[in-house]
Amino acid sequence: MKTQVAIIGAGPSGLLLGQLLSNAGIDNVVIERQSPDYVLGRIRAGVLEQGMVDLLRAAGVSARMDREGLVHDGFELAFDGRRERLDLKELTGGKTVMIYGQTEVTRDLMVARQASGATTFYSVPDAQLHELKGEQPHVTFTLNGESVRLDCDHIAGCDGFHGVARQSIPQGVLTEFERVYPFGWLGVLADTPPVNEELIYANHERGFALCSMRSPTRTRYYVQVGAEEQVENWSDERFWNELKSRLPDETAARLITGPSIEKSIAPLRSYVVEPMQYGHLFLVGDAAHIVPPTGAKGLNLAASDVSTLYRILLKVYRQGRHDLLERYSAVCLKRIWKAERFSWWMTSMLHKFPDTDAFSQRMQQTELDYFVGSEAGRKTIAENYVGLPYEPIE
Ligand code: APR
Ligand code: PHB
Repeated sequence: MKTQVAIIGAGPSGLLLGQLLSNAGIDNVVIERQSPDYVLGRIRAGVLEQGMVDLLRAAGVSARMDREGLVHDGFELAFDGRRERLDLKELTGGKTVMIYGQTEVTRDLMVARQASGATTFYSVPDAQLHELKGEQPHVTFTLNGESVRLDCDHIAGCDGFHGVARQSIPQGVLTEFERVYPFGWLGVLADTPPVNEELIYANHERGFALCSMRSPTRTRYYVQVGAEEQVENWSDERFWNELKSRLPDETAARLITGPSIEKSIAPLRSYVVEPMQYGHLFLVGDAAHIVPPTGAKGLNLAASDVSTLYRILLKVYRQGRHDLLERYSAVCLKRIWKAERFSWWMTSMLHKFPDTDAFSQRMQQTELDYFVGSEAGRKTIAENYVGLPYEPIE
């Protein structure tokens, strides 16, 4: 079997890259470890930056998002008993974010891929990458009991944090940068109307809380919990009580609760590997970096990596610009580190750390007060939240 670009992983990164390449007439094959149902069962974040919205539109997969997604012009920070709104649109000269679940983005991309007739192999547990620096890069795997070899020009490692692509790079090549936070987020999905029209990020002495949503009838709420906390210890009632205790009084009074339809705990981590290229292999999205969810940057960073690799491959295939391939990593990392910084800052400002004493609590409140009280501070938060511009490839 032969293709131009072999894509490992059918998450949002792999499927979006595949869609853009297929639209441009560049042949690609996607290989995914899990089944389609398993991929669609994962509940992930739901805030799309303007740049990602534009990219989905350019890929021709935005119809349902444009119909059902909620455009948000702002969000709120709650701290010290106050609520402060950041008007993203006004502060950024017209930029907004789109509330539309990652699961829905993935579903739309799956439907589009099926319609395009491009090849996808699901439930492949044993993909192996070969000759990453050699003459003939290829991927081998088992399909219906038969061994398959897929020859290609390039391999896109879109297989997430636990994937095979990054692990196929020899020891000593990559430098890892990591911070593991001493807490997690307990998230609940419920069919209840949102407590507020926009998202609320709350700093509270009991810990962080977030009020988010998926639609006018479906909410996603989170509370910070200890790193060792077990989801079994959290009844719906305990969750709702904890959430209410961390919100400003008037918000807590308006909160409508209901049975959870999904409840899970996610750890918080910052992680980057450098470089993101090894020979013919390019790492994309979670395969190369993780951000804590506080700035809603994970999915959006994956999209900007996809955009960078796509723009480079387009020039490689249309203009023979093979020289651009080695710029991939540096172009991506410039934007990734800025998003890492913002996510780390939001996490640091809003969470209770094990060593948060009365002094550091006042420092957090004062830093938030300083930022929201200054036009420059509000603009800094807003321009990062809507997403920094995509980097040019040359
Ligand atoms: N072979 C094939 N596929 C694999 C393998 C493997 N060895 N290992 C993992 N995969 C698949 C996973 O099953 C998953 O479907 O790769 C896909 C990776 O998808 P994601 O983890 O969603 O990563 P990505 O597509 O980069 O999405 C961006 O940013 O912060 C996050 O929540 C955000 O998950 C989102 C991510
Ligand atoms: C979500 O809706 O799941 C969500 C929203 C904003 C975040 C993180 C998660 O910062």
